Amino acid sequence: MCGIIARIGHGNATETLLSGLENLEYRGYDSAGIAVQNGSGVKVHKCSGEVSSLKSTLDGRPSGNMGIGHTRWSTHGPPTDENAHPHTDTAGDVAVVHNGVIDNYTELKADLREKGHEFESDTDTEVIPHLIDEFRSETGDTELAVRRAVDTLEGSYAIAAIVDGEEAVYAARKGSPLVLGLDEEEWFLASDVPAFLDHTDDVIYLEDGDIVVLEPDSYRITDLAGEPIERPVDTVDWDPEDAGKGEYDHYMRKEINTQPTALANTIEGRIENGDVAFERLPPGSFEGIDTVQFVACGTSYHAAMYGGQLVREAGLPTEVLRASEYESTSGPVDENTLVVAVTQSGETADTLDAVRKATDRGARSLAVTNVVGSTAAREADDAVYIRAGPEVGVAATKTYSSQAVTLALLSQRIAGDVPEATPVEDRAAMLEALEDLPRHVETVLEASEADALARDTVDSESFFFIGNGLGRSVALEGALKFKEITYEHAEGFAAGELKHGPLALVTEETPVFAVATGGVDDKTKTNAIEAQARGAPIVAVGPEDHPLVDVADEHLSVPETHPVWTGLLANVQLQLLSYHAADQLDRPIDKPRNLAKSVTVE
Ligand code: AGP
Repeated sequence: MCGIIARIGHGNATETLLSGLENLEYRGYDSAGIAVQNGSGVKVHKCSGEVSSLKSTLDGRPSGNMGIGHTRWSTHGPPTDENAHPHTDTAGDVAVVHNGVIDNYTELKADLREKGHEFESDTDTEVIPHLIDEFRSETGDTELAVRRAVDTLEGSYAIAAIVDGEEAVYAARKGSPLVLGLDEEEWFLASDVPAFLDHTDDVIYLEDGDIVVLEPDSYRITDLAGEPIERPVDTVDWDPEDAGKGEYDHYMRKEINTQPTALANTIEGRIENGDVAFERLPPGSFEGIDTVQFVACGTSYHAAMYGGQLVREAGLPTEVLRASEYESTSGPVDENTLVVAVTQSGETADTLDAVRKATDRGARSLAVTNVVGSTAAREADDAVYIRAGPEVGVAATKTYSSQAVTLALLSQRIAGDVPEATPVEDRAAMLEALEDLPRHVETVLEASEADALARDTVDSESFFFIGNGLGRSVALEGALKFKEITYEHAEGFAAGELKHGPLALVTEETPVFAVATGGVDDKTKTNAIEAQARGAPIVAVGPEDHPLVDVADEHLSVPETHPVWTGLLANVQLQLLSYHAADQLDRPIDKPRNLAKSVTVE
């Protein structure tokens, strides 16, 4: 899941391309490159490493009013200079950047080789400029050649191309996100809006099958046959500052520390007279639903576990499925099934694919996402936004909290609409306590001792996180965060599972973080004691007077609140623990190795 950008307009394109790539680097940072056209040919500059390395290799700034750029997350071929984008045809006249995977590239490459084309990289992408070149020589028409080339591709792609001697940018999308940015002086194409949010917030979200041609003073969108298409212009409600680091060392720290604001936005207007209110989902919206499936990946899957538990407790048959395993794990699906896609980016390929499979079987779909205009939001029957604001750090933090809260509220909306289901008894108390959650998170952020604990435990052999009920979601999320940014061995377990095997890994060198939720924690306490008996230091993560604290060696404290929300406070402590441990290990916290923020390939 790479980041692509293109720009055409008046004035020099290079600076805009480079800063746009920096704002897209959460999508991949294995290599970076730009190609700029200035009437004396297409100049390609690329290298392995981050955009900062590319900048340092650029002698001055290439000039040209139009260009394309790329930041890479390797799928085909290692992160080398040769495999960096843009890729060109043999003559170097056609330059292309691409996000996605071309499934039939080996056949296409073999065909093109027979026709005398030479290849320099291991990538799937390199076939595209050669295809465009081939069809240009056949048709003499670049726009037609681009459509022909795209028509031969199988797989997923967002592509931007420039051609020597032509003042135009050609682009296409299928399966990978692509947005068009409209500004008086210039046009942009990019994988995501932060790439050009400094310049404009007027955007067009392109759909699968769209072909775009940008010229200095005009743009047109057509289908593969060349028929013109109209697309609505939207306005992005994020400020560039939102997407900036501000005074923080890392985006992750900023995103952890701004959770009180994010949660306040998530909650705003959704609690009315002791009941749940969702914009565009009035009471009765879920009548007829008899089964709920949550599909998600990574951190979003852990948030889906939170929501799924509450829908299950309301008495509705509920499945929480890893999207990448949907085919092999999904139960029966029909028109009374609600499939809920939980995805902060709204672009995760596995999750989009699972929803498409479910809706092909008649299910009704709902996207719970952070990105307005994302593919998940546009493809689903309904969308609910978690309103956490842009999240740039690859390790998701504030979006987990906002997802869990949104799904907990959604569980009550669904339960309220389905006769067989029963909302939680003390719903009013639960919603009242929710109003205090932002303040409680503030308290955790101010009083946390996670930094000192990270210092004391960072040299441990492994790190285990245990919990039960809603605490299991938090334990798995705590472990994911820890391993993602520290690169240390960390695992999360349902507390009761330890004694069925993982306990063999427990020693004095493996601290066990036990999550208290104020719900079904007895098992968590029992199993923590069993681990302690093998020498493991136990860290209780929960309220002051929780029984777990009595048996633990260390304590990360959280304010007392309703059991539905206690786990989320504990999770903030675990986010801070991971952050401080990674900081002490001097890890690249915002861009952990081998990862990317939004996984747009399967
Ligand atoms: C979490 O820190 C990771 N970035 C990753 O697991 C992420 O949660 C997963 O890829 C799902 O992304 P999504 O919410 O954008 O669909």
